[in-house]
Amino acid sequence: MKSKKSYPKEVYLNGSWLKPQKAQVSVFDRGFMLGDGIYEVSPFYKGKAFKLKEHLQRLQYCLDEISLDFNAFSLEKIIFEALERAKLSTEDCAVYMQVTRGAAPRTHYYPENVTPTVLLYVNPVKLEGFEKKSWKVSATKDLRWHRCDIKSISLLANIRANEEAISNGFDENLLIRNGWFTEGSHSSIFFVKQGTLFTHPEGHNILSGITRQVVLDLAREIDLKVKEEKVHLDELVEVEEVFLTGTTTQIMKVDSISYKDKEVFTTKKDEITRKLQEIFVKATRG
Ligand code: PDD
Repeated sequence: MKSKKSYPKEVYLNGSWLKPQKAQVSVFDRGFMLGDGIYEVSPFYKGKAFKLKEHLQRLQYCLDEISLDFNAFSLEKIIFEALERAKLSTEDCAVYMQVTRGAAPRTHYYPENVTPTVLLYVNPVKLEGFEKKSWKVSATKDLRWHRCDIKSISLLANIRANEEAISNGFDENLLIRNGWFTEGSHSSIFFVKQGTLFTHPEGHNILSGITRQVVLDLAREIDLKVKEEKVHLDELVEVEEVFLTGTTTQIMKVDSISYKDKEVFTTKKDEITRKLQEIFVKATRG
């Protein structure tokens, strides 16, 4: 089902706080025209930052990978100001940040002496209660480019996959590259096979999820066997549990996976998913 979303009351754009309808960028902004920009989403539990340093480090890594000269850590002060201005300093919320290369006459190469366009806002989000829910997901071919570690604002392949899932009554879509699961359209994937936790290794084919790393650390803390190895479609018969992770997804149990109109996985157990959810709640809520 398509949930209704609302605009924030105010956004930060290039040094000013503005009502969304007053916040404008050039039609020649390279984000608007070419998708030449990076974004980041960082969670706040009851207004408390969680892994903000890691989110800003990832933003910096992505900006550096596309030679966009901007200091991600300069956003830290603005982030906390956004929470205060939106009166969300004690609420569950998520900050959206986006940096594009800025406005310049259209070229395929990076233009010189361009000022980046910086957008930032905070919205309340429901980070509670995920452990009471579960998702039915679909799976399709991963049609994205070969640098999925870069959190590019060009999300066409992701939104196309997600739209297909949502409009067919699923909650998320898993992406498959050459038969191997990479990640979800907006989440990381974990599998439990014979009591061992599996997730795709970091590299160019997935986003290095911050929640993914938190879950891996928590799993190792409770002595779960962990393998950062990819899982093939043909291995689903051996899989006992599947869950998805992400800043807004948290840790979501997967009930079933459909591929080419056939159910190819149905959950058999949920002990490990539940245990990780329980310690994740403790870790995020202190
Ligand atoms: N999406 N993989 C993809 C493709 C994602 O878009 C996301 C997050 C993740 C999970 O990463 P993290 O745990 O760091 O949030 C994995 C964000 C939330 C979004 O696009 O809104």
